[in-house]
Amino acid sequence: MLLLQATGIDKRFGGVTALHDADFSCDAGEIHALLGENGAGKSTMVKILCGVHTPDAGEIDFAGRLVAFRSPSAAVAMGIVPVFQELSLVPDLSVAENLFMGIEPRNAIRLVDRRAMRRDAEALLTRLGFSGIDPAAVVRDLSLAERQIVEIVKAVGRSPKVLILDEATSALNRQQVEQVFAVVRGLRAAGVAAVFISHRMEEVRDLCDRATIFRDGTDVGTVEMAQASHGEIVRMMIGRTLHEAFPPRPPLPPEAEPLLEVRGLDWGAELRDVSFTLHRGEILGLSGLEGQGQGDLLFALFGVYAGVTGDVRLRGEPIGLSGPRAAITAKLALVPEDRKTQGLILPLPVGENMTLATLPKIAHGGIISPEAERAATSTMQESLAIKTASMDVPVRFLSGGNQQKVAIAKWLLTEADVYLLYDPTRGIDVGAKQEIYALMRRLTEQGHAILLFSTDLAEVVGLCNRALVMYEGAIAVELSGPELTQANLVSAAIGVAESGRVDTPAASA
Ligand SMILES: Nc1ncnc2c1ncn2[C@@H]1O[C@H](COP(=O)(O)OP(=O)(O)OP(=O)(O)O)[C@@H](O)[C@H]1O
Ligand SMILES: [Mg+2]
Repeated sequence: MLLLQATGIDKRFGGVTALHDADFSCDAGEIHALLGENGAGKSTMVKILCGVHTPDAGEIDFAGRLVAFRSPSAAVAMGIVPVFQELSLVPDLSVAENLFMGIEPRNAIRLVDRRAMRRDAEALLTRLGFSGIDPAAVVRDLSLAERQIVEIVKAVGRSPKVLILDEATSALNRQQVEQVFAVVRGLRAAGVAAVFISHRMEEVRDLCDRATIFRDGTDVGTVEMAQASHGEIVRMMIGRTLHEAFPPRPPLPPEAEPLLEVRGLDWGAELRDVSFTLHRGEILGLSGLEGQGQGDLLFALFGVYAGVTGDVRLRGEPIGLSGPRAAITAKLALVPEDRKTQGLILPLPVGENMTLATLPKIAHGGIISPEAERAATSTMQESLAIKTASMDVPVRFLSGGNQQKVAIAKWLLTEADVYLLYDPTRGIDVGAKQEIYALMRRLTEQGHAILLFSTDLAEVVGLCNRALVMYEGAIAVELSGPELTQANLVSAAIGVAESGRVDTPAASA
């Protein structure tokens, strides 16, 4: 039964046409994917469906009636509840306060009943399978993945008739994704419609009944998931056929020069005796369950944390871990996890964001040469296919995936020796992912090295020469060669967690 239908939608932002004559509809009791390249108009469409944007043309029918939402809360009140790729939680409030914001349980004299709120939050989290999250915890202290889960729980707690997940699972690992999917399937069984946007095609295939594909601001087709091949869908998305997902991986020569040597790295309880060597030309993967120190390791090496001890050498020279500036000078680069707070300055133009970490090189006597900046940024725009009206547009106006590309470009421009990458292709479409993989391969061919943390296991297996599975801040298992498979990564991650041992026979420095 048709539940929500948008027809002939147009939307322009200044000179940019985000949507033109776009249609989208979904039925009650189905999970419907919205697919397309970065900048295709997916987020704009769902923001129109849920009252964040007003369309310039077109109409929306919901449950058989023409609707025009004046605000997001008007849409939520009617049962259209979104979770966006940009997080919306209030960092200084607790999980419970965020979950019940605007719908707080109240006592007889209309005061917020804090005890009831805690209890209800606990019940909701438990019912949805996330009892591991403490309702009293302050959101600021949660990991990105946990914050995404709280966003989803918050939406589900508002009894949606249409639940919109716009890259709402992008930072979750496989187990967390499975739990969220179980929740969404439960809603489907109860007649709820779900709209699912993700650049992880395996997940789309696993979860969705149908998919509508957008290209350049309009819909180009709707398919039954079970009937359409991966190749067909990708062709509809990008207008051409994609071959091999991962570039060929040349074997690392046995005499490869050690580039980054880490010995006995410790940081409180977060990092414990971490030792490994990263060679020139190597991509070394970091894997394991969420929050086992993979991110902390990258940040510690970049000098972000105080009190890190251990011996770290780059090209044989000890480096002090004294701060990001020293790290950049030593030719380390970090693409951080949360582009919004750590990677980009949203109100600044695209071009300036890209050259932020490179200033000394293109600036002469403190003045940035506009030509140098333009040359550097346009090369990057081309090689990463960054979709933006110009380099002068504030970066916050770019689609999510294109913002991520700018964050990557910023660090590529520094021409570092060692790249520390935190989930670099999160939110990036299939075509552009391949560009980034090819770029990573080129970097290693030029003698650079990459330490890659990725929540996408296919990426770890497809790109890395070796992978380190972390558990509770320590390296538990190393996998390489034919042993480096998705199945082994999962079983290693779960295995160490269950046995609680990090000294498994397969472990080595
Ligand atoms: N507030 C805005 N101001 C100006 N341009 C915008 C704004 N929002 C979106 N756009 C532009 O509209 C186009 C579509 O963006 P949208 O966010 O809908 O893409 P998307 O399909 O969700 O991409 P992604 O997969 O990267 O999230 C892009 O070119 C984007 O730059
Ligand atoms: Mg988007």
